[in-house]
Amino acid sequence: MVDGPVSSNIVRSESQVTTAQRAANLGHEGFTVWFTGLSGSGKSTLAFAVERALLERGVAAYVLDGDNIRFGLNRDLGFGPEDRTENIRRIGEVCRLFQDAGMVVLTAFISPYAADRDRVRALHPDGRFIEVFVDTPLELCERRDVKGLYAKARAGEIQEFSGISAPYEPPNNPEIRIDTTRQLEACVQTIVDRLAV
Ligand code: ADX
Repeated sequence: MVDGPVSSNIVRSESQVTTAQRAANLGHEGFTVWFTGLSGSGKSTLAFAVERALLERGVAAYVLDGDNIRFGLNRDLGFGPEDRTENIRRIGEVCRLFQDAGMVVLTAFISPYAADRDRVRALHPDGRFIEVFVDTPLELCERRDVKGLYAKARAGEIQEFSGISAPYEPPNNPEIRIDTTRQLEACVQTIVDRLAV
């Protein structure tokens, strides 16, 4: 990972449109809603359900999902620590662009490292990055094993699997903590209410 641009002789240009004008145009402010949690914790299910609920309210919302993004934008990245950091760095920059454009962008990435998530937070204006910890215990994710990946990880067929053979650092101070043993609709409502869009 590089800290700054490798290019020299680059100069920023300014938009003629203000954040307030974008918000007035869309009817709401831009937010990044960052779901983090183990594989199978319910991040994608929740993010897509919140997206639908927001769309129904006329909010411009869009989900960036970890598995989906790894088919395209981040298809060059694997699951080693450096690649995971780069995965989150790129998506963090994409989120900041969506958020700046005035949209509500919802992300579903394991994002196992607290420092990576904090860097994404720091890209955003205060209050515009909402971290949602999908706090489903490992035992429950493994028992559900929706994609069959925990069984493979235990059998040694997948290396560096989050929670099994790679770390997951839970957030200390997330804006929202979700207990997915509650009904999905109740979890969605908690998030929509917090956004107040
Ligand atoms: S992250 O750690 O870099 O944030 P990301 O959310 O993009 O991960 O991708 C996680 C998804 O990739 C999991 O939901 C799972 O379907 C799949 N996957 C494949 N291999 C692994 C692995 N070694 N660790 C975690 N998830 C994996």
